[in-house]
Amino acid sequence: MELVGKHAVVTGAAGGIGEALAERFHAEGARVVVADLQASAAGDVADRLNEIRSGSALAVAADVGTEEGNRNLVAAAEHAFGPIDLFFANAGVGIGRGPESPESEWELAFNVNVHAHRWAAKYLLPGWLARGEGYFCSTASAAGLLSQIGSAPYTLTKHAAVAFAEWMSITYAHAGIRVSCLCPQGVNTAMLRAGDDPSTGISSSVVRSAGRVLEPADVAAVAVATIAAETFLILPHPEVLTYLQRKTGDYDRWLAGMSKLQARMLAGS
Ligand SMILES: NC(=O)c1ccc[n+]([C@@H]2O[C@H](COP(=O)([O-])OP(=O)(O)OC[C@H]3O[C@@H](n4cnc5c(N)ncnc54)[C@H](O)[C@@H]3O)[C@@H](O)[C@H]2O)c1
Repeated sequence: MELVGKHAVVTGAAGGIGEALAERFHAEGARVVVADLQASAAGDVADRLNEIRSGSALAVAADVGTEEGNRNLVAAAEHAFGPIDLFFANAGVGIGRGPESPESEWELAFNVNVHAHRWAAKYLLPGWLARGEGYFCSTASAAGLLSQIGSAPYTLTKHAAVAFAEWMSITYAHAGIRVSCLCPQGVNTAMLRAGDDPSTGISSSVVRSAGRVLEPADVAAVAVATIAAETFLILPHPEVLTYLQRKTGDYDRWLAGMSKLQARMLAGS
């Protein structure tokens, strides 16, 4: 899908990958809804885009970790710019360690990283099915195809995000609905930097040692190319596909390798 003249909604767009997606979609000629919990930062992004093309961006304060937040976001976007052509469920949280992590962290991870996607779909699908078109994108992670050393909640929820995107594609391709799923490794954002403090987030040294850390704008460029091609996996780190092939080619070998990698990382930390 080409983005010129389209209406795109991006969640988690006040910063990081979401901000870069919103900026890039706007540069491609889309009208963009910048949705985030952080209302004032989302407003700054929308103001910047409106300075470039007046009336082409709207900030919406939304907590997508609730059903109501998604319902209100879809309604506000449609009220402002009409039917939504592309919805990018990008907001996410990188929290939690193992089964002992507080229930509140597990709940937040599932609400924002997984349930947000199905709540958005619930309010998007009636219009998309009636019109016979719509594009659903979600941000999972390479951790959703492989694993996240050190965080069970992140691993589980990102796998679930990939699974939901797959299910959407399988179920609605015949109805004209296209689906893509963004699965990056390290990207230089606040989420990655939060992991520099080992008491919070996912250890950034683990992410950095897994491979190249990209800039958000690089990720957005790959997203636009993949959306134009209408293929499923958005892979800013193409080597993730090789890792996935190795995993499925010999699961036990892959598990043993990951286990060794974790031991090396623990020894180094
Ligand atoms: N940075 C990385 O290395 C990396 C790698 C793989 C995947 N990801 C994924 O990319 C996505 C974007 O992350 P990022 O790295 O840009 O992080 P970020 O922390 O810079 O941005 C996340 C944004 O989501 C918003 N957000 C969080 N909870 C929300 C909620 N309930 N409702 C609305 N907005 C909410 C935050 O306010 C923030 O603006 C996430 O899904 C993350 O899991 C990031």
